[in-house]
Amino acid sequence: MAATILVLHGPNLNLLGSREPETYGRETLADVEALLEGHARELGVTLCHYQSNSEGALVDRVQRAGAEGMAGVLVNPAAYTHTSVALRDAFAAVGLPFVEVHLSNVHAREPFRHKSLLADLAVGQVVGFGTLSYVLGLRGLVRRLNGLER
Ligand code: DQA
Repeated sequence: MAATILVLHGPNLNLLGSREPETYGRETLADVEALLEGHARELGVTLCHYQSNSEGALVDRVQRAGAEGMAGVLVNPAAYTHTSVALRDAFAAVGLPFVEVHLSNVHAREPFRHKSLLADLAVGQVVGFGTLSYVLGLRGLVRRLNGLER
């Protein structure tokens, strides 16, 4: 059976396409999902997409991913990247490999965006490539899951 990867999007990413397009681009969340589905087919993995504006709902979804036997998580935690001990603790608790992605280069933005509360637990972090950050993150995660690289 193909491995299933949870693709998790944090707050305000439901507004992609219209939200600050100069920073986040014109592609919608549906566009991102369709883009990833194409790569997932090629990679032989199944994706499960989930977006929430609520911290608790994201924590619940990560916990369920562990219980459901998902293989890993591709996550753009959005603003919760910089604030959420709860989301960090959820990833630590379930122990699933995950890759953190950001559309924008958070390190070139306001100082409060430079800190990620998740990054040290992640397999890796991809920032600044727009929707390509998700593609690179998915490919890196699948390589790790396939044992092709450490
Ligand atoms: C973001 C960067 C975060 O700082 C911000 O809060 C977001 C989007 C990105 O993808 O560039 O909502 O995660």
